[in-house]
Amino acid sequence: MAHSAFRVALATVALIGAACTKKPSDEGKTGSAGSGGVAPPASNTLKIGVVLSLSGAFADVGKQIQNGIKTWVKEHGDTVAGKKVEIIYRDTTGPVPEVAKRLAQELVVQDKVDFLTGFGLTPEALAAAPVATEGKVPMVIMNAATSIITTKSPYIVRFSLTLPQVSTPLGHWAAKNGLKKIATLVSDYGPGHDAEAAFTKVFTEDGGQIIETVRAPMKNPDFSSFVQRIKDAKPDAVFVFVPAGEQSVQVMKAYHERGLAEAGIKLLATGDVLDDHQLATIGDPALDVISTHHYSVAHDSPENKAFLEAYKAANGADAGMPNFMSVAAYDCMRAIYDVTTKLDGKIDADKAMELFKHMSFTSPRGPISIDPETRDIVQTVYLRKVEKVNGELRNVETQSFPDQKDPAKAAGGAPPAPPAAPPGGEPAKAPAGSGSGK
Ligand code: PHB
Repeated sequence: MAHSAFRVALATVALIGAACTKKPSDEGKTGSAGSGGVAPPASNTLKIGVVLSLSGAFADVGKQIQNGIKTWVKEHGDTVAGKKVEIIYRDTTGPVPEVAKRLAQELVVQDKVDFLTGFGLTPEALAAAPVATEGKVPMVIMNAATSIITTKSPYIVRFSLTLPQVSTPLGHWAAKNGLKKIATLVSDYGPGHDAEAAFTKVFTEDGGQIIETVRAPMKNPDFSSFVQRIKDAKPDAVFVFVPAGEQSVQVMKAYHERGLAEAGIKLLATGDVLDDHQLATIGDPALDVISTHHYSVAHDSPENKAFLEAYKAANGADAGMPNFMSVAAYDCMRAIYDVTTKLDGKIDADKAMELFKHMSFTSPRGPISIDPETRDIVQTVYLRKVEKVNGELRNVETQSFPDQKDPAKAAGGAPPAPPAAPPGGEPAKAPAGSGSGK
């Protein structure tokens, strides 16, 4: 469908949706990035629509991302290429894919945003992907980390991570470090399936054995019974992915309370589980835990030092530590400002995507670039160990794996779709490294 026809068709849907849902409190969620005052004429405004779970069970995901956005704007101002930046936040109360899609439609059709961004959660990014394609609006992913997402629209670019990207080095490390039998525990949706598949692939190729596979529900999991299953399987170690935030705290609590460390079961995790923002709340049970991820607040670089100072200045000391989502949001804002400057404020989606595809810069996490083939992030993944640094728990980086692409795509183009269920039977197991669209 032609771009303009799409906007007309969607206008009806979006306007009906807006009429049904607009609340007085929405006013506070829309506004210029700066001090307010009289809005400049539309043509002189750069509109950035941000779709996030700002309330509900995943409010922490939205909050960390919002804090990263605020940090960039406070540091770099609310004008770019002579345009006033207007940031329009929309709360999905997520994970609610239908709401994310409707909010993205409203942002494109009614608000006429130049960029769609935010997207902390995979189901919401997948639901909104067709809106980016049909509305021809660049969609800049600030967190959602299932491999397959960037294959869902040519207008998607991702500055965060993919779960296969961070899980693969950990699978190799586990095999090299004498671990023979491992159990996996992941959240039962896209990023969890990706983490499980990638870790399993390399660990078993390197000679290890997976002796138990446990998936916990994405929403409201009670981890204690899942963790008990792991304990009963008596592995050498458990590999864990859960979405960062409240669930990091809960899964670490269950690991501690069920006495897995005392039973000799090591914990290996993606950095989501040892979320820098939650590390102080998790407390000493995190000590010595090994993980792999692309960002730690302990990353030793001038860029990270400056970021941590800017984060505190923008969000206050009470905001605590940023996490990897805050950094990705900050980097996305840099990328959006950069593209806007290069296009002299005239945002054409195809030209913008060309610029995103060839971007590279030094982030607070280290060097990053976009793979022009996949529009996905290429970055260093770090092995880390939780230690006390000046009395505070930190994910201390001990080894780095530079230039990591998304291995699920590097293995041969877009990952294959998970196999269909045979008639009347259980779904077949997805091939290792395949993306999950769930
Ligand atoms: C996701 O939904 O893609 C997601 C959420 C939280 C994470 C990682 C991935 O920590």
